[in-house]
Amino acid sequence: MDIKNYVKNYFEQIDWSQEPKNLYAPIDYALQSGGKRIRPTLVLMAAQLFGGDIEQCIKPAAAMEIFHNFTLLHDDVMDNADVRRGRPTIKAKWDDNTAILSGDAMLIKAYQYLEDVPADKLLAVVKLFSKTALEVCEGQQYDTDFEKREDVTIEEYYEMIRLKTAVLLAGCLKLGAILGGASEEDAQNLYDFGIAIGIAFQLRDDYLDCYGDEKTFGKKIGGDILCGKRTFLLIQTLKKCGVSQRQTISQLLKNTAIAGEEKIATIIDIYTQMDMPTVCNEAMEEYYVKAMASLAKINKTDEEKAPFVEFAKNLMGRID
Ligand code: IPE
Ligand code: IPE
Ligand code: MG
Ligand code: MG
Ligand code: MG
Repeated sequence: MDIKNYVKNYFEQIDWSQEPKNLYAPIDYALQSGGKRIRPTLVLMAAQLFGGDIEQCIKPAAAMEIFHNFTLLHDDVMDNADVRRGRPTIKAKWDDNTAILSGDAMLIKAYQYLEDVPADKLLAVVKLFSKTALEVCEGQQYDTDFEKREDVTIEEYYEMIRLKTAVLLAGCLKLGAILGGASEEDAQNLYDFGIAIGIAFQLRDDYLDCYGDEKTFGKKIGGDILCGKRTFLLIQTLKKCGVSQRQTISQLLKNTAIAGEEKIATIIDIYTQMDMPTVCNEAMEEYYVKAMASLAKINKTDEEKAPFVEFAKNLMGRID
């Protein structure tokens, strides 16, 4: 069965039209607006690898996608973002309060989607889900705290993106592994694979936030610069550039009088001078290699694991 299509069709048939409309219409809008559906796909791929049944795992897989979309509703409030998936965000189309409360309801819905997990696996699943969700909050708090700090190290950055992004991809893989009945060791290796591809994925997201095509990326280019995010590009540039460029960046980021577009163009120009596309690609490559090393340890044939290699390549935009 084609997992991607199965997930897509599953989401299309969910009916979110309930009262009160102002609570549920934003949920419908968020969950029917596509997105890559990476997380439920990973759950089902992992379950399938260990012999699990796709149809029996779709609800917990959907729980992860609903949770992910909840984090986006709140993230767009925190990042003051007006565009996502090429459309107005919930906070832009409705308002902040709507994004907060509909987001809260989605978190609860995510738990409801876990309710039917077989009794012998339910406790492990709920523990994994809650731990992962809390770690995402920790990552989001670091991300926010870092906006106010100029001395964030690359190690701190990696830990922040591990928490805000990678643990969810890894958690999805582990969830699938648990549902499919994998050994602890295989589940852990698949989790480690997920951490590595998750880190590479966030590196790419930071890169695309500056160098992407707004149409395909679906978000505003330069959004991270406007809210002073300590991204991979910013931290590595500050490490590499000279004193005067460091001052220019620091002053630009603080300057509220200057037009956003000029700020974005000037800073991206410095990133390019500092070779950030290459530096970023090399870092992604490093995590791709780590991901492959974890995948290699899993007790399955190369043929059975091939979809994970393919997935990792797609996620990183690799063409080889
Ligand atoms: C966006 O995730 C948040 C990040 C972790 C970068 P996705 O890029 O997976 O978002 P959708 O669901 O496909 O829109
Ligand atoms: C994604 O961080 C992390 C979460 C949403 C939990 P970003 O803030 O970079 O995600 P986008 O770029 O808005 O999708
Ligand atoms: Mg954010
Ligand atoms: Mg954001
Ligand atoms: Mg981003």
